[in-house]
Amino acid sequence: MVKLTIDGQEVEVEEGLSVLEAASKIGIEIPTLCYHEALTPYGACRVCTVEIIRKGWSRLSAACTYPVQQGIEVKTNSEKVRKARKLILELLLARCPTVKPIQDLAKKMGVKKPRFQVDNEECILCGLCVRVCQELVGVSAIGFINRGTERQVTTPYQIHSDVCIGCGACATVCPTGAIKIEDDQNLRKIPLWHTELKRKRCKVCGNFFAPEVEVDFLKTKDLQLPQDLFEICPDCRRSELGNKLSRLKTTVPRNFLTKI
Ligand code: SF4
Ligand code: FES
Repeated sequence: MVKLTIDGQEVEVEEGLSVLEAASKIGIEIPTLCYHEALTPYGACRVCTVEIIRKGWSRLSAACTYPVQQGIEVKTNSEKVRKARKLILELLLARCPTVKPIQDLAKKMGVKKPRFQVDNEECILCGLCVRVCQELVGVSAIGFINRGTERQVTTPYQIHSDVCIGCGACATVCPTGAIKIEDDQNLRKIPLWHTELKRKRCKVCGNFFAPEVEVDFLKTKDLQLPQDLFEICPDCRRSELGNKLSRLKTTVPRNFLTKI
């Protein structure tokens, strides 16, 4: 166990936790944009910046990637922290002026109008979409390209990727709504990834639901589910297979059952 102080409160937590997780354990909320508890922290957005005082030295650091250490003092709302977060939000707002979560957070930090050149992006390059695709879905259909101001997330060669299964996990975790999913009858389109996939037709109601390749992908996983489940849309599955499902002892993530 590791003992540290967060905003004057002494805390004892398990080794290996981040400062963000330790703070959350005692009910101290630190704002985040690129953090998701199911994914490896990446430290991209810096919104979770806190002040760490160690051996008399103070430094600003991202709480989501900073591991707890014996004897450190953490300040989550000092003058220094507020100033740093305000600047970060000012930069994010200049990049994505129309994105609601950024507008809201900027307002909370007291940012009215960014002093920097205003852009019109929706993506903050947080990398959540890349990480979920790689770590949870296990597909790695998207990644970062270029550096500096040219940096972006896209598919290999910025063209339609045969690897993308159109599951939409990227859109689910994206904090800014930059990834749009368009379901149009038998087609699922994700324009940002140049993806266009045929959707499967439900054997019961005849409606289209998940992309065929996503369903085929899930069939190859050891989900311990009856094969007929993959032929039926979520609505019919709930009504027709509800009882069958509730009896199933399965470790399948809940979103797999509801999303496909
Ligand atoms: S598309 Fe969304 S999830 Fe992906 S890097 Fe951009 S903001 Fe983050
Ligand atoms: S949430 Fe920690 S750097 Fe983004």
